Amino acid sequence: MNQPVTAALATAHSNIALVKYWGKRAGCDPELNLPAVGSLSMTLDELRTVTRVAPASADRFELDGEEVEGKPAAKVFAHLDRLWRLGACSGPRPRCAVVSTNHLPTAAGLASSASGFAALTIAAAGCFGLAEQLDDPTRARLSAWARMGSGSAARSLWGGFVRLDAGTADDGSDCRARPLPSPRPWDLRLLVVHTARGAKQVGSTGGMESSRLTSPYYPAWVESSAADLDAAEAALRARAFDQLGEVMEHSCFKMHACMLATRPALMYWNGATLEVIRAVWQLREAGGPVGYVTSDAGPHVKVLCRAEQAPALAAELAAVAGVHEVQRVAPGPDASLELT
Ligand code: DP6
Repeated sequence: MNQPVTAALATAHSNIALVKYWGKRAGCDPELNLPAVGSLSMTLDELRTVTRVAPASADRFELDGEEVEGKPAAKVFAHLDRLWRLGACSGPRPRCAVVSTNHLPTAAGLASSASGFAALTIAAAGCFGLAEQLDDPTRARLSAWARMGSGSAARSLWGGFVRLDAGTADDGSDCRARPLPSPRPWDLRLLVVHTARGAKQVGSTGGMESSRLTSPYYPAWVESSAADLDAAEAALRARAFDQLGEVMEHSCFKMHACMLATRPALMYWNGATLEVIRAVWQLREAGGPVGYVTSDAGPHVKVLCRAEQAPALAAELAAVAGVHEVQRVAPGPDASLELT
């Protein structure tokens, strides 16, 4: 029998997909949140969520020093209920105080749900007596549980580069994430180029469901993504930077084509997004520092480059009109758990 033993503190780093997840598998239990396509991501150093879960007299959720109520808080408490059930814990779930800090840029659209749900899952599992340390099997189990909160969170259990396979089993048992070999000393950086401030308008969850239902490009997106996943993993293993960059851009633009063909159209970019993409391409063609772009359900651009070219490329992109900030981010570490 598991009982809340103690307060638990977890840190999980955010991640950016190089091969994208967009769309949920139809015809299976929605609670499992199974992706229609696999994905491959880089975990981000610095950009992380730290979450403490402790037994309390009533459920409460505090984010960045502010009490959160309504839908976002309900989502957190529902995830605690889910973890209590998944852990086959007995009796009613104890009430919890969840206190989170996002060490993420203030601008939205930077995958806080990935690090957020990963950290919440780990800390709650620690608090409920379902995890004492993050050995390989525990990490894999918590990754599957984190996915039920948010698909991209499944990848934030590990550092470096992570592959999440979609699988085909109805119970989700073969939808698994695993770390890929570290590319060091093949050192890469991701430049996070901020092109806006403020929250995005259509969240990923609703957006991808609309694409599945209305985008004529959605079947082609799903069908072609397995090949991208294998190509990206092969490029990573071979340290073939240009091959990795090419498949990364292809996956990104295919996802955005699918988004644009959704009804109503999902257009996450602004003018500066396009200017940054053009600048990266022009530099690449002109023999300048080499970068490859990706972007998610928001206007920011993330640019993969070699570590030694990161300062020069960041300086070029900071000068593009509409760019607010360029962050240089290295591959981040594994998520961690501390029982306090
Ligand atoms: C565009 O993980 O936020 O960032 O599973 O509905 O919570 P839910 O979606 P989420 O989707 C992320 C989509 C993406 C691409 C990616 O990270 O792979």
